[in-house]
Amino acid sequence: TKQFGIETDSMTLQRYVLSEQAKHPDATGDFTNLLTSMLVAVKAIASATQKAGLAKLYGIAGATNVQGEEVKKLDVLSNELMINMLKSSLTTCMLVSEENDDHIEVEERRRGNYIVTFDPLDGSSNIDCLVSIGTIFGIYKKRHQGAATLSDVLRPGREMVAAGYALYGSACMVVLSTGDGVNGFTLDPSIGEFILTHPDMKCKPRGAIYSINEGYAQTWSKGISEYIRTRKDPEPGKKVYGQRYVGSMVADVHRTLLNGGIFLYPPTASAPSGKLRLLYECNPMAYIMEQAGGLATTGKERILDIQPTAIHQRAPIILGSKEDVEECLSYINKLD
Ligand code: AHM
Ligand code: MG
Repeated sequence: TKQFGIETDSMTLQRYVLSEQAKHPDATGDFTNLLTSMLVAVKAIASATQKAGLAKLYGIAGATNVQGEEVKKLDVLSNELMINMLKSSLTTCMLVSEENDDHIEVEERRRGNYIVTFDPLDGSSNIDCLVSIGTIFGIYKKRHQGAATLSDVLRPGREMVAAGYALYGSACMVVLSTGDGVNGFTLDPSIGEFILTHPDMKCKPRGAIYSINEGYAQTWSKGISEYIRTRKDPEPGKKVYGQRYVGSMVADVHRTLLNGGIFLYPPTASAPSGKLRLLYECNPMAYIMEQAGGLATTGKERILDIQPTAIHQRAPIILGSKEDVEECLSYINKLD
């Protein structure tokens, strides 16, 4: 179905979500609208991140550019895009963003039934050096009539109806799960659409890469230390693991999903509960990993079972290939 080098019948993300929607006769189309609106934000962020270096030459971060216009920091811009697109989709009632201290209530005339948690631009330390960054999101549905309250978002991750991330790398990709497996869509910039390029993604049961910030090794628990040590110095007959750490959760998790292996952000001296945030970093990634056949745990409990008590709370996280995470847990259970 190709003419003039152009696919005439491609599976776009919107088409995919519409076909999922058709499986639920009572669906209103709200969820499709929510995603379509959010993808506008993602495309705009993708475009902005590619110009970040250029914008810097002309002044950025609250400064003015040569035209005398104020240039917004990329993370501020990304946050505004996500909030504005989600509110104007008329499908959300509450938003939680890493960039806002408080949860955001959507004004009554624009309210719908969905609640979205997000980190608009994750990997802030990587923005200026042009390394991959991403957007992470989790979506819940309000289960009662009337206005949403904080308790509608302080729910275990297993109650999400969808979750995913956008990765701004050498290409822009959206990885999404609506609770029925994981699918990956790549942005075709020539038509501005996300095309299904990675159907039914699976995380293989065992990988050969570990991913952790080794700079904090001094403060790891015995179990984590011993698990990592044995990746580098394995028992006779077992293979040495490779090490990769981008420092952008989206990039590190995406590689783990594609190639297998394990990603860890355990408690450290300066971050006794880990660094990553439960609602919009750990939960969506845990959801994707489990939907792809992998595991995600704090070391003590399943990430998706945690009952949150605050919107910005943190959790330690270990996720990836099932056998790798289980092996790591066996060290923790033995030594910690
Ligand atoms: P951020 O929200 O300030 O960008 O921090 C989150 C990022 C994650 O993307 C990444 O996994 C982690 O911080 C890396 O932290 P560290 O530099 O301590 O290894
Ligand atoms: Mg973040």
